[in-house]
Amino acid sequence: MSTRKTDDVTGIETTGHEWDGIEELNNPLPRWWLWTFYATVLWGIVYTILFPAWPLVERATGGVLGYSTRGEVAAEIERVDLANASIQAALLEVDPGVLAQNEELYSYAVQAGASVFRNNCSQCHGSGAAGAVGYPNLLDDAWLWGGTIEDIEYTVRHGIRNEEDPDARWSQMPAFGEILEDEEIVSLVAQVQAMASGTTPADGPAAELYLQQCASCHGEDGRGDRLQGAPNLTDAIWLYGGDEAALTETITYSRFGVMPPWGPPRLSEAEVRAVSAYVHQLGGGERAREEEASLREETGPGAQDSTRLAGTDAGPSD
Ligand code: HEC
Ligand code: HEC
Repeated sequence: MSTRKTDDVTGIETTGHEWDGIEELNNPLPRWWLWTFYATVLWGIVYTILFPAWPLVERATGGVLGYSTRGEVAAEIERVDLANASIQAALLEVDPGVLAQNEELYSYAVQAGASVFRNNCSQCHGSGAAGAVGYPNLLDDAWLWGGTIEDIEYTVRHGIRNEEDPDARWSQMPAFGEILEDEEIVSLVAQVQAMASGTTPADGPAAELYLQQCASCHGEDGRGDRLQGAPNLTDAIWLYGGDEAALTETITYSRFGVMPPWGPPRLSEAEVRAVSAYVHQLGGGERAREEEASLREETGPGAQDSTRLAGTDAGPSD
């Protein structure tokens, strides 16, 4: 029960609340507090008129200033694109084989390429580009389809064995389970393992079978064929595995590694070039043939040995 009365000591009316004989005076709110409160109410109303605020069925009220965070991001992206437009145009103009000679452009390409790689390639090739079963390691100098910056750019732009791009790199190993006897496959598994360890028997039925069935793609010497993306079988680097089970599966059922094409619209031309430059400098990049020839002329034979990039005479492989 609350009854209001006037406090004897101060002469101020009480609120009528009382706890153990202590009563609450009904002092007015301080002016400064009250005005601050009114100001925040006013500010709140004005804010919801100017900016997006009240949720409606489809979307919130837009606000008379027309501001949106989405629009701000779009403007930011446009600003960055504009700032990069000239360097991206320059990146597309330069011949990829000599890109590394232009320091500023090259370092832009490698950095931009690294971020393109993280966003688009790492889910298959690994964030460090070391690959996984079926997904080649891009750090080494063993290449299925070629390791010059032009080769890499072609692979990236068109992809491999995909139905989307008519210019995709394409080849298919037959499934020998339908062609050969089981014992023949067993002997080929042993033959391939021997080739990988460098102890190939010069002749014999398995070697004969290899020459008949496999050499047209993997080469008589087993060093593969980049025009067909056929892996080098002599380097003990395996895309699908070099143990008996993996080799039996590869030869019996064949394999069909697919990579999507990354040319526009998926990535811009400049992004394709940048990520190719990035992959090229990861460790196994090879010099373009003309570039190597010009380098040899300038500095004499053997000069390329001291460079970071492997020479083109490293055999084709996976
Ligand atoms: C969906 C998985 C996938 C994604 C994503 C992917 N790749 Fe690949 N990539 C593959 C496969 C599978 C192969 C090997 C195909 C084969 O067996 O020939 C390959 C092969 C390559 C090769 C050829 C390697 C060689 O030895 O010649 C390059 C270069 C390459 N990828 C770069 C990239 C780049 C750069 C990106 C990102 C823009 C990318 N890949 C994204 C699956 C992928
Ligand atoms: C028409 C061409 C062609 C013929 C013929 C062919 N291959 Fe292949 N082989 C390929 C291609 C292409 C690949 C890579 C497949 C992929 O990456 O999807 C491959 C992959 C392999 C691999 C996997 C290598 C690795 O790194 O994991 C082995 C092993 C292999 N072939 C063995 C053989 C043997 C043995 C024969 C003969 C019985 C043979 N191939 C015949 C084209 C061929």
